[in-house]
Amino acid sequence: MSELIIDGKPLAFVEGQTVAAALVAAGRVSWRTTRLGHRPRGVFCGIGVCFDCLVTIDGVGGQRACLVPAREGMTVTTEESTDE
Ligand code: FES
Repeated sequence: MSELIIDGKPLAFVEGQTVAAALVAAGRVSWRTTRLGHRPRGVFCGIGVCFDCLVTIDGVGGQRACLVPAREGMTVTTEESTDE
């Protein structure tokens, strides 16, 4: 099993999982909130259409977690992060 870093903490994933799949497998169903109403969002469509799953990956914002394969050592930051 490999690990990525999410909000400063290690998260194990199985090769072939997307970032979103790794998060859901770890029990996280939401990782950002809407600007209006601060409603929780995570995976909705799972195919790159809805943009509900946005995260920052290796410093690049606006990445769709459901489309990006998890890689060893990648750094993922969510809007729920307390690091920023
Ligand atoms: S879940 Fe819809 S774009 Fe990722």
